[in-house]
Amino acid sequence: MEKKEIVLSGIRATGNLHLGNYFGALRNFVKMQNDYDCRFFIADLHALTTNPDPADLHVNVKNIVTEYLAAGIDPEKATIFVQSDVPEISELYLLLNMHVGIGELMRTASFKDKARKALGIKTDSSTPTSPEDDNIEKEIIGSDSNKRVNAGLLTYPTLMAVDILIQKANKVPVGKDQEQHLELTRRFARRFNSFYKTDLFPEPENYTFGAAAVKVPGLDGSGKMGKSEGNCIYLIDEDKVLRKKVMRAMTDEGPKEPNSPVSLPVQNLFSLMELTSAPEVVEQFKNAYADCSIRYGDLKKQLAEDILAITRPIREHIIELRNNDEYIGRVLRQGAERARYYAAETLREAREVMGIRKFY
Ligand code: TYM
Repeated sequence: MEKKEIVLSGIRATGNLHLGNYFGALRNFVKMQNDYDCRFFIADLHALTTNPDPADLHVNVKNIVTEYLAAGIDPEKATIFVQSDVPEISELYLLLNMHVGIGELMRTASFKDKARKALGIKTDSSTPTSPEDDNIEKEIIGSDSNKRVNAGLLTYPTLMAVDILIQKANKVPVGKDQEQHLELTRRFARRFNSFYKTDLFPEPENYTFGAAAVKVPGLDGSGKMGKSEGNCIYLIDEDKVLRKKVMRAMTDEGPKEPNSPVSLPVQNLFSLMELTSAPEVVEQFKNAYADCSIRYGDLKKQLAEDILAITRPIREHIIELRNNDEYIGRVLRQGAERARYYAAETLREAREVMGIRKFY
């Protein structure tokens, strides 16, 4: 039998899934499960980097597994597991860190962003690099122990690389915001392989079915929908809540002259529409914008219904599944066993090439 290519991806256990997670990742997970050896996990160790309340963590893990299943991931086809159920990941994280530079980690955009948040430095999320960036290293070194940037945040890309490399994944379906982490993963894999003269780790690539990587915008005029941005539409949102969020989305005063340039908030609505509505509907509203006849209220109503057509069946399925602890437990135990099987083998090989050998 032909060996299928390995797919690995995960989502942090930090709350319910939103449209960014869905279009950036989950939708592709479901599409890939028939053709690849898929392994999807819930990143609870990554969630620890922002020090969540311990009482919330396992609830978030359960929510995400339920949402994976409700969106259509079939545990008979794909392996679904919790990151902390595979302790081999933590050991390889320690080993790989020996080949990762502090400088390259400090230059990662997501690190700078999280470091600024931890230190309470205000950011403008629409500009990926802000002027404070130049000083962030000084701020980090000078920070006191109350307002600290934890080392887990810095080494986040190592942990993510290990998630991928320990499964020897070839394809990693993720949204645009994760591409820098994937680039680092490839770099770490190459470096490790060349240092130890091995071909242990394949270099993984983002997989988006030939389309550009997705960036789902926020409804508040910001560049990105994200949990910490507080601008999310969740898969679990009830019809009423979802409609209200869309109707409140930021717009502008409307085009005054034909073919006016489109402002960021309105472009965001069009981008969401491109993901959710039929192409002729998008075109109709774009034409209406171009000839100044557009009514944002109509656009929002249409957008809300088109989003609901996607999220409503998933929400109904979540509600059906979420009290079935027995089933969810079975899925995760089986997933952990499979994921550990592969991880243990890779870890054994990594220890071997690094010279950790028993001579006694
Ligand atoms: P996380 O939990 O922030 O997001 C999970 C997935 O959702 C995608 N995503 C988006 N895509 C488009 N537009 C958005 N607004 C948006 N918001 C979120 C993300 O790109 C991601 O695919 N570091 C990862 C989790 C992780 C991981 C891994 C992923 C840990 N180890 C190994 C792949 C492989 C993260 O924080 O994703």
